[in-house]
Amino acid sequence: MEIINKIALVTGGSKGIGKAICKVFSDNGIRVLAPSHSELDLTSEQSIRNFLVSLNSEVHILVNNAGVNPLAEIGSIEFQKARQLMDINFWGPALITDLLSAKMKKQHYGRIVNISSIWSVISKPGRSTYAASKAAINSFTRSAAVEFGPYNILVNAVAPGYVNTELTKKNNSPNQIESIKSGIPVKKLAEPSEIAELVYFLCSDKNSYVTGQTIVADGGFSIV
Ligand SMILES: NC(=O)c1ccc[n+]([C@@H]2O[C@H](COP(=O)([O-])OP(=O)(O)OC[C@H]3O[C@@H](n4cnc5c(N)ncnc54)[C@H](OP(=O)(O)O)[C@@H]3O)[C@@H](O)[C@H]2O)c1
Repeated sequence: MEIINKIALVTGGSKGIGKAICKVFSDNGIRVLAPSHSELDLTSEQSIRNFLVSLNSEVHILVNNAGVNPLAEIGSIEFQKARQLMDINFWGPALITDLLSAKMKKQHYGRIVNISSIWSVISKPGRSTYAASKAAINSFTRSAAVEFGPYNILVNAVAPGYVNTELTKKNNSPNQIESIKSGIPVKKLAEPSEIAELVYFLCSDKNSYVTGQTIVADGGFSIV
């Protein structure tokens, strides 16, 4: 059965990649639910449960996009911050997926994309806890794809390289960004819309067979 009026839940839709995902979905006729940070705070299990209980709507598409990346080298990790990072980047998405799974299975349709990172597959100083959180989401993606496959629910992760967002500007100086660009085969950062188009494809009915994958979108950064 084809679902005509699809509804997508996108976390972290206020800016950056999430905002671009909301736009491409809306442009393609998908109704978007993009709760603000205060409506759905991923550091709080209670906030997640309250939001989903109050959600009086079907959800056909889930994009776990919200994320944080506080840098710290091993030896100076602040574990309270690291636990919070894990809550936002891994436990929050895992709990949302868990709580929505019964509805998605019942409607026999779902598309889930988890926004991972290139640092889940390659490394750089200062990214250990972030990388671990994103590697965890890649693994969760595979497990969810296996369990949900029989219910016509496809689950993938998208692992962007450097994207032109506030997060990248916060973690890299303008000089560092110039030097990063020169090391990327396509010689530029990704625009958020370029990541959003890939997410849209994976969530559209044009994707009927890709599941359980972590798709790297990094302009070739990780292959040189
Ligand atoms: N930028 C990159 O180069 C890059 C590369 C690879 C992967 N990624 C991943 O892509 C995703 C989006 O990154 P971005 O660059 O677009 O980041 P961003 O511009 O910093 O936006 C992050 C979003 O997450 C939300 N958020 C943060 N903490 C939250 C919390 N506790 N509860 C709910 N929402 C929260 C923010 O809401 P508020 O603004 O209201 O706090 C914001 O909407 C993240 O998962 C990130 O790890 C980014």
